[in-house]
Amino acid sequence: MLNIVVLVSGGGTNLQALIDAERRGEIPGGRLSCVISSRADAYALTRAEQAGIAGEVLRRGDFENQPAYDHALLVLLERYEADLVVLAGFMTIIGDEVIGRYRNRIMNIHPSLIPSFCGEGYFGQRVHRAALERGVRVTGATVHFVNEVCDGGPIILQQAVEIQDDDTPETLQKRVMEQAEWNILPRAVAMFCDGRLSVVGNRVMQINKEQREDAE
Ligand code: GAR
Repeated sequence: MLNIVVLVSGGGTNLQALIDAERRGEIPGGRLSCVISSRADAYALTRAEQAGIAGEVLRRGDFENQPAYDHALLVLLERYEADLVVLAGFMTIIGDEVIGRYRNRIMNIHPSLIPSFCGEGYFGQRVHRAALERGVRVTGATVHFVNEVCDGGPIILQQAVEIQDDDTPETLQKRVMEQAEWNILPRAVAMFCDGRLSVVGNRVMQINKEQREDAE
């Protein structure tokens, strides 16, 4: 059973999707063992508490520099024996040391079809505003592994969502969450925990049990 540690900053609806999926038995290979929040007042921490999952607060502002923050994060990840780290609406930058130590074991959910509307400055509702301003007819969400390039790591799953003429950033954000994010994030986590993901360069392949045994 793999230990899943989820990093959050806000409402935690993606965390809730993971909690619900685990409850339904849809993540048989893993268990949510800790939620780490960058804010003490994040509602995601209440969701964790209600689900009986350990909660921790780690604020970037409490540390002098990136290496000091990264070190504290690594200490927490080791304490909870993290096998998989999931960034679910996490708005704090993670340094290269953590990324290197957890190579292809950190997943992020991004609310667009990468490589559109991603990278520095694209987070939360800003992503949806940019999509509407550009006038694209289709957007969606992406789950990818985290590497040193912001939103640039290997893509695991994507799901498209059509844009409607009367969409606002708010309505679009809600539909992308409901129709894409809450679906693909638990699926990607379940596939990882089941040993079904294999990373080759920038591509993520889905492998079956026999292929996995051959590779071992
Ligand atoms: C989600 O839409 C997630 O995709 C986005 O923040 C929201 C968090 O919502 N993440 C990013 O923009 C990362 N670049 P939640 O707290 O309700 O899960």
